[in-house]
Amino acid sequence: MIRPVIDPHGWNRSEADADSAKFRRLSASEIAEFDSALVVIRASGKPLLQMNPSDFPLKGPAKAVLLSAVREAQSGRGFQLLRGFPVDRWSVEDTKLVVWGIGMQLGVARPQGKASHFLADVRDAGGQYRGVTGRGYNTNAELDFHNDSSDLVGLLCLRTAKSGGTSLLTSSVRAHNEMLATRPDLVEELYRPFIFSRQGEHAPEEPPYYQTSIFGTYNGRFACRYVRNHINSAQMAFADIPRLTARQVEALDMLDATVKRADLCFQMEFEPGDLQLINNYVVLHSRTTYQDHEEPDLKRHLMRLWIASPTGQELPADWKPFFKDTAAGAVRGGYRGQNITPEIMQFEERLAKAHGMHFRVYEDKMALRA
Ligand SMILES: [Fe+2]
Repeated sequence: MIRPVIDPHGWNRSEADADSAKFRRLSASEIAEFDSALVVIRASGKPLLQMNPSDFPLKGPAKAVLLSAVREAQSGRGFQLLRGFPVDRWSVEDTKLVVWGIGMQLGVARPQGKASHFLADVRDAGGQYRGVTGRGYNTNAELDFHNDSSDLVGLLCLRTAKSGGTSLLTSSVRAHNEMLATRPDLVEELYRPFIFSRQGEHAPEEPPYYQTSIFGTYNGRFACRYVRNHINSAQMAFADIPRLTARQVEALDMLDATVKRADLCFQMEFEPGDLQLINNYVVLHSRTTYQDHEEPDLKRHLMRLWIASPTGQELPADWKPFFKDTAAGAVRGGYRGQNITPEIMQFEERLAKAHGMHFRVYEDKMALRA
């Protein structure tokens, strides 16, 4: 029998609204430490993939505030917002170095798509959200609630839109429990496998789609992986996969309706200088559509990093086809894409070693080459 998941991740909107600790403004000494680390990383002159955590040295209060945000994401409410990064006086290139440096301090960055890029600019580049190769980050579309493909996602806001672009967060733990109260039969359905498309961004050694459950537990830890857009794409793109049953569609529709419920979904407006850190396994995110300013320099712009965390939880064993490694504290996840180079693998292995993480994420790739 499926039981409700009882842990601190299971908040609803009024609980999230009342929790003032979710926003934490950086102090002057924390900002000063980020500034000093920026000077060091800039002076290193190294390409991003040649860097090490020591190239962005954080040891004092700035490191403590990042680690406490990770703790909050993994063992508390599932997300944390750090406010006040001085992006108004950092150039875009400097901001990129800071995001990269923060990522190196927190774990191993994960690739984010076909080009195997590690830092994504979330802005409207005229992309197509729906469709068999659609992604959301390069559009101004309202997004379905979903999670990204890594232990943690970090979003740093450089500029907000003229209007819209509200950030929406829902606890997948709470959605699970709410559904369970009235339709345990549909929850059961979501613990069974679904087929997700890789949106045409798979590596040569990867199949174009994969199968995982949407809800799963392992050793008592709950986890959710959900991207309806990719489930729908798989149905459109692959004639050889089973069609969704009416019951599966009913379960997905109920999950979609639950996560957007006004009493469950927490809403927040980004400010330039906000860093939002989310644990993907327990929080689903979305954003409303937005309208940009005309001037290119004023358009909404966020930088996104996906991180495998040394303190990441163990995942359900049947999630291996997507994550490649389900052990706690393993390098895993991301969209490998089509440009993984030896330099990338060496960077990841070096970072994994620095954080004491398992590094088996390319075993399938190496097996194919052998
Ligand atoms: Fe996302």
